Amino acid sequence: MIYVTRREVFSASHRLHNQNLTDEENIEIYDKCNNPNGHGHNYTLEVVVAGQVDPKTGYVIDLKLLKKIMREHVIAKLDHMNLNLDVGFLKGIIPTAENIAKGIWEQLHDKLPSGKLYSVKLFETENNYIEYRGE
Ligand code: NI
Repeated sequence: MIYVTRREVFSASHRLHNQNLTDEENIEIYDKCNNPNGHGHNYTLEVVVAGQVDPKTGYVIDLKLLKKIMREHVIAKLDHMNLNLDVGFLKGIIPTAENIAKGIWEQLHDKLPSGKLYSVKLFETENNYIEYRGE
C-alpha cells in the first residue's frame, strides 16, 4: 500500500459553545474558546489517500486532481469563513477540530477517482492536531 498526502491551508473563525449548556458550563469547558465574538485559526489540513500504484500512470492518485478536489469541496467552503454560521456541512455542529475533520472526511471520501481516503489530519495550531480515519 502506498500513502499519498496533500497539504492545504485555510483560515477561519469559530466559537466553541454548546447551546444546550449554561453560559457557566460553556465557560468551564471551553474557556477562552467560548469568547462570544469568536476567534480565528490558521488551519493546516493534510489528507492522505491510500492505494496501489496504477501501472499505466505510476500514480495512486494524481495529486493535481487531489488538490482540485480538496480546494473545491473543502477549502472553498471553509477558507475565511465563520465555521459556526457559514458552512453547510458544519451546520448545528460545535466546530472543534475533531468535528471539522469528520466533516471534511464526509466531504471527500466519495469524491476520489482512485485510491481510498485513509486519513484527515487537521492542525489547529502548530502543536495541536487531530486525525480522523473514518472509524
Ligand atoms: Ni479555536
